[in-house]
Amino acid sequence: MEKIILKDSAYGIKKGTILGIQEMTENEKLFEIALEGGQKLDHEPGQFVMVSVFGAGEIPISVSSSPTNNGSFEICVRAAGKVTNALHKLEIGDMIGIRGPYGKGFPIRILERNDLLIIACGLGIAPLRSLIRYVFDNRKDFGNVHILYGCRSPDNMLFLDEIKEWKKQKDVYFECIVDQATPDWTGKVGIITTLIPGVRIDPERTFTALVGPPAMYKPAIQELLSMNVPESQILISLERHMKCGVGMCGHCQIQNLYCCQDGPVFNYEAIKHLKEAF
Ligand SMILES: Cc1cc2nc3c(=O)[nH]c(=O)nc-3n(C[C@H](O)[C@H](O)[C@H](O)COP(=O)(O)OP(=O)(O)OC[C@H]3O[C@@H](n4cnc5c(N)ncnc54)[C@H](O)[C@@H]3O)c2cc1C
Ligand code: FES
Repeated sequence: MEKIILKDSAYGIKKGTILGIQEMTENEKLFEIALEGGQKLDHEPGQFVMVSVFGAGEIPISVSSSPTNNGSFEICVRAAGKVTNALHKLEIGDMIGIRGPYGKGFPIRILERNDLLIIACGLGIAPLRSLIRYVFDNRKDFGNVHILYGCRSPDNMLFLDEIKEWKKQKDVYFECIVDQATPDWTGKVGIITTLIPGVRIDPERTFTALVGPPAMYKPAIQELLSMNVPESQILISLERHMKCGVGMCGHCQIQNLYCCQDGPVFNYEAIKHLKEAF
């Protein structure tokens, strides 16, 4: 049998130290992590890392900070099960394992000089915040920027302080919506797709970045297509169960594609024929 030789760079786990923990909601925490020896993560917005919590397991998590950050990076993690709950119990100074960054993120060089329509639903804001912060740090390289953010209720809203700043940006159109209002909520109520027709875009020069629960994709894509956004300019991040993160175990396979390597960010034109993708 042919022997498989793994490159250090593919499976090498780097040590990461937790520098900061911010409780964002009841279920989500933002972790700031520094790699051993001051190494830079060197990721693209939309890529993910494999995070090991020693004694609990390893999971894929999107990088939530911009590559323009120096010295550390951030991940926003929802407590969902064994590993994420164990991660939530860690404290500042604790060590975790990091592999990656892995996968294909948002194609920054292609997005530059174009307009962006960023649509985030729920935890989908975690990878998109990396893109948003990158764009804000390099604002002159991008055209018009529209951001739509939807979540279950105002209590579930992530990155609240930053959102206040995004809203103040003169050259950014920002709208948010919640499924269920709380008594103090004065904003819009409904599903995120209802915001899409209200955005004024030039479809030929607009790239849309869409991340959220699978149920949102079909109706959102329909809205975008009806506004004449080309299929190749609709970018979607798909979530699949992952084990290796590097195209070896087949856990994340969608027909001939490995979500961990060919994605997680895909353009709609490339995957529209894959029923399982949605
Ligand atoms: C590319 C990628 C990026 C991700 N980015 C983030 C992120 O930024 N923040 C974050 O909180 N989570 C993210 N996730 C989801 C995260 O990996 C899962 O929540 C985690 O693996 C659950 O592990 P656990 O041991 O805590 O839960 P488990 O005990 O393994 O499972 C708890 C529940 O979560 C479900 N689950 C497990 N893995 C996944 C998965 N990959 N997708 C959907 N549901 C899953 C299980 O079916 C089960 O219902 C990402 C997943 C992928 C594939
Ligand atoms: S997670 Fe193993 S092949 Fe993608």
